[in-house]
Amino acid sequence: MPASPMPRARTESHRLPNDLAPYWMPFTSNRQFKSAPRLLAGAEGLYYTTVEGRRILDGTAGLWCCNAGHGHPKIVAAIQAQAAELDYAPAFQMGHPKAFDLAARVAALAPGDLDHVFFTNSGSEAVDTALKIAIAYHRQRGEGTRTRLIGRERGYHGVGFGGMSVGGIATNRKFFGPLLAGVDHLPHTHLPEKNAFSRGEPAHGAHLADELERLVALHDASTIAAVIVEPVACSTGVLVPPKGYLKRLREICSKHGILLIFDEVITGFGRLGANFAVEYFGVVPDLVTTAKGLTSGTVPMGAVIARKGIYDTFMTGPENAIELFHGYTYSGHPLACAAGLAALDVYAEEGLFENARALSRYWEDGLHALKGLPHVVDLRNIGLIGAIELEAIPGQPTKRAFDAFLRAYDKGLLVRTTGDIIALSPPLTIGKAEIDLIFGRLTEVLKAAG
Ligand SMILES: Cc1ncc(COP(=O)(O)O)c(C=O)c1O
Repeated sequence: MPASPMPRARTESHRLPNDLAPYWMPFTSNRQFKSAPRLLAGAEGLYYTTVEGRRILDGTAGLWCCNAGHGHPKIVAAIQAQAAELDYAPAFQMGHPKAFDLAARVAALAPGDLDHVFFTNSGSEAVDTALKIAIAYHRQRGEGTRTRLIGRERGYHGVGFGGMSVGGIATNRKFFGPLLAGVDHLPHTHLPEKNAFSRGEPAHGAHLADELERLVALHDASTIAAVIVEPVACSTGVLVPPKGYLKRLREICSKHGILLIFDEVITGFGRLGANFAVEYFGVVPDLVTTAKGLTSGTVPMGAVIARKGIYDTFMTGPENAIELFHGYTYSGHPLACAAGLAALDVYAEEGLFENARALSRYWEDGLHALKGLPHVVDLRNIGLIGAIELEAIPGQPTKRAFDAFLRAYDKGLLVRTTGDIIALSPPLTIGKAEIDLIFGRLTEVLKAAG
């Protein structure tokens, strides 16, 4: 295999790799990237700096995660101090105070009796953990036949075998064999013919939750452990739930003794201007998965938040027995806990969730001003999330949006694309001036594409 050589920079040789070939990049068109690399060297506040020294406005909070902006001094200091004080503590049969402190803080942010927190290292691990807890919970209660998991078309729940199986994006599934047995899917909620250009929650589609009744009739409730959905399906291109949909799903799950899991890996920690989507929509599930904003993306960490009744169901049997045979070497890692505690402090002290809420209307107006630009077939938004759906180039799906991504990057703006959809989710530290910049640059990009 030929290597992809890259010349060393004259002054800052440590910033440029010699050889781009060995790194097999995730969810990336490796050959395209390595032919014209987009390498970031630094980040501060709302901006990245590239290895060439260009400033890039971060329209995606990294990957939907850097909610406090980049390089926040308080978070940086907490991570540095923690590395010096306690680098690692065994996660099994041992602990360290910050894991308990962070669990208590996260539980306090989650409403109702979502009181117990299980730490993981990613959203994918949080999802697989929640699915395992759901199945084991029913077994603990003597309902071991409840093993079936229900996801949703177009859902994204990470890349573990559990998350992939309940996920509903064909490209993420079709290469990997039969996946988990006993999984079914609800229909997605995207109804462009009725809901295109909706502001916030679309009016049509609550009835799609009733499809769960059909699946219950097919499989019988006694075989179903849990339903998992993203309250707002983000990675598939921002599908905002129709008004009343989540509430209906909650009612049907409760009626049949099925656990409801909200995957809040993106929507947690302020993205909608609330602690969690749970609070935003006023619908309380049984388990919440989260990650990303938990540490503002600084140190990998995920979590499952469980209702008290679920935790209590496991706390039986001899006291010296392990109650749940599950966990990760790095569950509750000290660096992640320190980062998480600092991130939660920053969110509260700087009122970042309130900022997101206060700006969400301005954001919505800025996004919807793009209506009428070439090839824009839909605009969707909620909180500080936005999506621009473009008409695909005939025979070349994804190309139009990817070209827009490249042009935006050239203009100093980072966006994210999925299919022919441009997704936006800036750090929650954003202000009106930078919102104007994002939509101004996107207007130029879309006009040039016309
Ligand atoms: C809803 C949802 N669940 C799970 C994941 C997977 O998280 P990770 O990439 O940290 O494994 C993501 C990532 O974007 C996500 O959006």
